[in-house]
Amino acid sequence: MARVLPQAAALIRAGGLVAFPTETVYGLGANATDPSAVARIFAAKRRPTFDPLIVHIADRSDLPRVLAASALSDPRVSALADAFWPGPLTIVAPAAAEIPELVRAGLTSVGVRLPDHETARALIRAAGTPIAAPSANLFGQLSPTSAAHVLSQLNGIIDAILVADSSRIGVESSVVSLLPGEPARLLRPGGAPAEQIGRVLAPFGPLEGPAKAVTPATALPAPGRTASHYAPRARVRILDLNAPDLGDLARVALLAPENATLARLSSATAGLTVVARAALSEEHDPVRAASRLFELLHQLDEAFGVEREPRDTILTTPYPEPGLGAAIADRLRRASAER
Ligand code: TXA
Ligand code: MG
Repeated sequence: MARVLPQAAALIRAGGLVAFPTETVYGLGANATDPSAVARIFAAKRRPTFDPLIVHIADRSDLPRVLAASALSDPRVSALADAFWPGPLTIVAPAAAEIPELVRAGLTSVGVRLPDHETARALIRAAGTPIAAPSANLFGQLSPTSAAHVLSQLNGIIDAILVADSSRIGVESSVVSLLPGEPARLLRPGGAPAEQIGRVLAPFGPLEGPAKAVTPATALPAPGRTASHYAPRARVRILDLNAPDLGDLARVALLAPENATLARLSSATAGLTVVARAALSEEHDPVRAASRLFELLHQLDEAFGVEREPRDTILTTPYPEPGLGAAIADRLRRASAER
């Protein structure tokens, strides 16, 4: 491990993907502050959605890099960290500015955990950066509790794997959200028993279950999965360039998969007021596109200025769906869902 660890840490700093053991399951890690590195996680896992990722830290003193000041002074955060860290509990709370939108799947909150595994913490310390990591499995497959599990799914797709003991706990961490003005919610049962979490939080109020899905039609309660979740303030419409229907559009901001489509979208909307335009990548490049998606949606949304009109629309085209494109297409569809 003496030589391997600095190499793995260097790969993380260079934007690579390193699978590493934790006490719950193996994680697929990338520099949590680098959007392109994080986009590669989604590409490697072939996740068809952008679910928010858990950010792993090595020491409590790293917490200000991940959580906003308001979260650091929330006594519920300290109580849970005191009781369960290092260990199988993830705290979801308002995010620090350094955490990219892709890690948070566009939410303002982030999940953070201090794992109870020496190898995991040594890697994070050596890398000098918090590490974003979902479980190191392909989408829809079982979470890996050994290096062999990871290799059977991700060999050739990731840059390195740190091999250590099998994961002691074998199920993922419990996820508790502590959002301002809301009761604590258990979003995912896991390695830390709900009864214990409830006891630690009892002085601050009851521990509730996940909030009801906002869109009954889709009834997907998991975070990041509701149909109209984190939509920008402006409407989002997906335009079929082969049969463009401009409907009631007046002011638009244009977002295209790449420059060539942006040119076509610009021609199709020549009669409208275009406040801003952007391509997710210059040439077709889903990893780059994914790393820029949330930031660009924000920027285009801001381009309408303070005087908003109900018909203001971010206009985009269908994103090609192979590979990571599926997650981008899914996000755009959900941003465009009726609210
Ligand atoms: O034990 C674990 O938690 C493992 C190891 C590697 O740490 N990681 C893991 O990550 O299970 P993943 O990506 O498979 O699950 C992350 C889950 C999300 O699906 C979501 O439920 C929750 O954590 N989560 C993370 N950030 C969130 C946020 N900002 N808001 C709500 N939920 C969040
Ligand atoms: Mg998972």
